[in-house]
Amino acid sequence: MKFFISAWALWNTIAAVYVLDPLDNYSGPSFFNMFDFRTENDPTGGFVDYLTQATAIQRGLIGYNPTQNRVYIGVDNKNVLGTFQTSANRGRASVRLQSKKAYTHGLFIADFLHVPQQACGIWPAFWTYSSQDYPRWGEIDIFESINENQFSLNVLHTGPGCTLAGNQGGTRMTGNMYSYNCDDRATMGPFETPQSINEGCASIGSGHYGSAFNANGGGIVTMEWTDSFIRMWNFGPSNTPLNIRSSNPDTSTWGVPDFTTEGGGCPINDHFKAHNIIIDITFCGFYAGQAYFWEQTSCFKSDPGRYPRCLDYVAANPGAFENAYWVVNSIKVYQWT
Ligand SMILES: *[C@@H]1O[C@H](CO)[C@@H](O)[C@H](O)[C@H]1NC(C)=O
Repeated sequence: MKFFISAWALWNTIAAVYVLDPLDNYSGPSFFNMFDFRTENDPTGGFVDYLTQATAIQRGLIGYNPTQNRVYIGVDNKNVLGTFQTSANRGRASVRLQSKKAYTHGLFIADFLHVPQQACGIWPAFWTYSSQDYPRWGEIDIFESINENQFSLNVLHTGPGCTLAGNQGGTRMTGNMYSYNCDDRATMGPFETPQSINEGCASIGSGHYGSAFNANGGGIVTMEWTDSFIRMWNFGPSNTPLNIRSSNPDTSTWGVPDFTTEGGGCPINDHFKAHNIIIDITFCGFYAGQAYFWEQTSCFKSDPGRYPRCLDYVAANPGAFENAYWVVNSIKVYQWT
């Protein structure tokens, strides 16, 4: 009997690992077929014309390189547009990919060779959310930024009842949390910290972003979502844990994350369910285009009369978006078994 118990314990230790179902391997020639191309007007209010897959291929906005086994996801960087937004001039052409499959829990590992670089008016993001019921079932922003920011954000958006503890002296996370209530409607956090509606609980990531990320040779952007926590890490090529590239990545060896819900008051399963993966690049909209943020950009400040609004700049300067593209080696979603 004693032998039996210890043999069971040993087996159990070996068995509990992350594994990848081939259907959750977003890479290679079938990459784009694993996503829907959402073409409705941008729900985040952007000056953007989201194209169908066929049109995006035809216009050279997306592509797959079989030699290097990489995927390219870009935007229109050639055409000057009108500054009056209508159904015939929705904005700058781009794509919004939404995974056909939805996930509850998982270890999401994105391997990017290139991410969209800083530019006035840009708002790129790699994120997950419940496209069925937002914000009831939550949103997890894994890699997101606007305009000329030198950092990316980690953010959660939920309904009421999910708050975070923050950095806790740097012991639990390396990012810099600045709002603690994940409730999208909240205007006050748990430490009497005011926040804005739609801000969620947000942290400035400690990893590279934009041009620094690309100059560093790309990187790995990860999110781990279990019954009890959501954590995120962002690694460059020189500090990527070796087991990330193995068939059983092991987050227990990855060190202090950039972001965590641990230590806070957020029952994960009550707030996050059935998320689709989204990759998009939009312009302006509710975040990058907000006057408060737009008026902090060098493009506004250097000529406020010429570019009073974000879309005035985005419409007139296609060349500003030459580096506004993702190169994806792979996105893999592992499950704990
Ligand atoms: C994922 O798919 C790629 C093809 O794009 C393949 O080369 C690779 O071996 C697959 N990885 C796993 C772990 O199945």
